[in-house]
Amino acid sequence: MALQQFGLIGLAVMGENLALNIERHGFSLTVYNRTAEKTEAFMADRAQGKNIVPAYSLEDFVASLERPRRILVMVKAGGPVDAVVEQLKPLLDPGDLIIDGGNSLFTDTERRVKDLEALGLGFMGMGVSGGEEGALNGPSLMPGGTQAAYEAVEPIVRSIAAQVDDGPCVTYIGPGGSGHYVKMVHNGIEYGDMQLIAEAYDLLKSVVGLNASELHQVFSDWNETPELNSFLIEITADIFTKLDDLGTGQPLVELILDAAGQKGTGRWTVETALEIGVAIPTIIAAVNARILSSIKTERQAASEILSGPIAEPFSGDRQALIDSIRDALYCSKICSYAQGMALLAKASQVYNYSLNLGELARIWKGGCIIRAGFLNKIKQAYDADPTLANLLLAPEFRQTILDRQVAWRRVIAIAAERGIPVPAFSASLDYFDSYRRDRLPQNLTQAQRDYFGAHTYERTDRSGTFHAQWF
Ligand code: 6PG
Repeated sequence: MALQQFGLIGLAVMGENLALNIERHGFSLTVYNRTAEKTEAFMADRAQGKNIVPAYSLEDFVASLERPRRILVMVKAGGPVDAVVEQLKPLLDPGDLIIDGGNSLFTDTERRVKDLEALGLGFMGMGVSGGEEGALNGPSLMPGGTQAAYEAVEPIVRSIAAQVDDGPCVTYIGPGGSGHYVKMVHNGIEYGDMQLIAEAYDLLKSVVGLNASELHQVFSDWNETPELNSFLIEITADIFTKLDDLGTGQPLVELILDAAGQKGTGRWTVETALEIGVAIPTIIAAVNARILSSIKTERQAASEILSGPIAEPFSGDRQALIDSIRDALYCSKICSYAQGMALLAKASQVYNYSLNLGELARIWKGGCIIRAGFLNKIKQAYDADPTLANLLLAPEFRQTILDRQVAWRRVIAIAAERGIPVPAFSASLDYFDSYRRDRLPQNLTQAQRDYFGAHTYERTDRSGTFHAQWF
């Protein structure tokens, strides 16, 4: 039997879809799954007639692949990745390459890279975004590892990735765990986007009083604007058209329990940002919002005891408020991306990843969950100035916020007056106001630290370190 060009382990839906995508682009492959039934079912159904062969032992799997072998592992992050790697290690030859396409923690990837490279094997951590549909028809791919490892898979990843006007949505990210780091921050930004959209929905529903079909219309209109055109706005518009099919006839979204789940990538983004000292308040607000939403029973009990302000129904210009909410959403989104990109810039220094921020914005233009027309503006901002300290300083975004900040502030004020939580809108505005202010009140913080702990302070009018006798 001729040797296969590529191997894939793990036939959950992402693995199956990637296998079909790879095969459709002309690469032969062998697939393996821990449980043989899954492989059999795949072969009998979706893989039928395709250039895909099954293997029912890892020995047969490895033996079926051309050398150096290229093996994509699509199993659950954490222990299962280690288990597969450990099983593969004794079967592989120097030069063979394992690619982990799951949402692995970047520090795990760093560890695996070191471990395998010491054995002469290659290991690549590759972020894969776009969900099931993306995996099948074109994801955004974020491969990190050695340049040589990338070159070994470049023809495959370039052909299976989503294609946009300026190329495939894949690029060599950088060394070590950089691919998974970038994917993690992508997900943090995804959390921010989703929370900002949820807050806009809450205001449109609770203040403007829009029903599902009006919400559908507003989000559809927003999706036509160059600022907000994006996958997440598009699916939001769609969601409002779906009626319950269990007999109530109501919009399904209104019957869904308001308790958000999370698998960890948002929290990891927060953890790394705190660790390396980058402020990402919008993304933190998004993670907190999911946590607070998940204590549903406690919130229900609290709602009986704690009341908010009493507000008259909104009687102003509804269209004007809808437009202001759109502006608030866009300004907040800019701040959220500014934070995510600032985090990537700092991580690039701390971990020596040599990230190209403009190129990251480019590969997120298609295929991934945060894909949006807006990413082209981010790419252009970094192309114009690769050393840009913060996205807020780019002329395009600076002007947008100047033009829309009155609306943005008004929306947050209305929400506060009416007791509607808008944690990500507010965190974004606070980020903007903190970043743009020459003087913040942390002079007082420094005075307090020196007062109670002799932690010393610097002065604005002379250099050196000082300590005062406060009492
Ligand atoms: C993607 C998604 C994908 C997945 C997240 C969801 O880029 O395709 O981010 O990776 O949907 O893991 O994460 P939560 O379950 O934490 O929302």
